[in-house]
Amino acid sequence: MGHLLDDRRMKLFRSRNLALRLTLFVFTFVSLLVISFATYSPFRQQVMLRVPRLLHDLYSTAEAHRKPAEFMSPEDVFQYLHWSNCAACQLPVDFGFVMARSGNPGGVAHPDGQKLVCLDQFIAPVFNNCHVYSFGINNQWTFDEDMAQFGCHVYSFDPSMGANDHNRTSKIHFFNLGLAKENGQSPNGWKMKTASSIYEMLADYHGSSTLIDVFKMDIEFYEWEVIPQMVQSGFLRDKVKQLAVEIHLKADDSLENYQKRVRILQDLESMDPSSGSDGDHNQVAGGFVRFSSRINPGLKRSITILGNKDDFWGFELTWYNSKFYNSPSKQGPVFPYYQ
Ligand SMILES: *[C@@H]1O[C@H](CO)[C@@H](O)[C@H](O)[C@H]1NC(C)=O
Repeated sequence: MGHLLDDRRMKLFRSRNLALRLTLFVFTFVSLLVISFATYSPFRQQVMLRVPRLLHDLYSTAEAHRKPAEFMSPEDVFQYLHWSNCAACQLPVDFGFVMARSGNPGGVAHPDGQKLVCLDQFIAPVFNNCHVYSFGINNQWTFDEDMAQFGCHVYSFDPSMGANDHNRTSKIHFFNLGLAKENGQSPNGWKMKTASSIYEMLADYHGSSTLIDVFKMDIEFYEWEVIPQMVQSGFLRDKVKQLAVEIHLKADDSLENYQKRVRILQDLESMDPSSGSDGDHNQVAGGFVRFSSRINPGLKRSITILGNKDDFWGFELTWYNSKFYNSPSKQGPVFPYYQ
């Protein structure tokens, strides 16, 4: 079964790859023709010299994005993780920015606590009528406070702070509980719930049919059990407009484990139910579009599968739900610069 699926994926990949190669070949051929006609014109200097660079960028981006996780080399894995696809959002804006220093006194100063939110017309949080779920606070409230200032109700969760449920402000509601793939207790005794159970629990606050404008998580490796669960249950597809996650990796992990994690992200990003799978080979497609990948400068390490070259063991990734991008998903005051 696994083999069949891998085979099918590889065929799909090869045929897409062939089409891409043919297109690039024709493009290159036409480009060469144009170059030979434009040898002495200034046009050549201005534009044609950039063509090889452009082709390279186009090809390597498409390659890293499309290759199934199971066939990725260590370099492919990291190229995929760094892939920012930043053309997908016209107006990405940081919420919750502060400066921090990592490492010893005198360590590198870098921005911290922020998440990127896409403010393109229909996908943007609805100004003054929005809801944000924020998992993993660690006593740093800047993101939650910025979203509240945008007029959002913010539901903040962190079982590791030793704080009881409380209303931090009239817009920021804190809950002493964590996000997991099932309801229960974590090994260290924290109360854990699934996204759908939390959503039901909060029905008194936001009603039982509202959309979550931004779903943020920084939950120290729990993301790898939570994301597949939220894709398979349909929670992400039905309820969430934007997703912001700090993903965590292990610097000395095996290639196989890296590929498994990339598979989870590829299923989330899949638009085609026939190309994704869960552990039982059911078909899943998250339909989420990545619009940013950013490094955390404090998380650089020597990575075993890269032959101990330095890279990052944490990435800030953001996506929006493709089904809401092109049409209004809920009513609210129109944001000033769209009027
Ligand atoms: C927080 O405020 C809400 C109303 O907005 C209220 O229902 C809830 O009981 C309050 N929670 C706490 C822990 O005081």
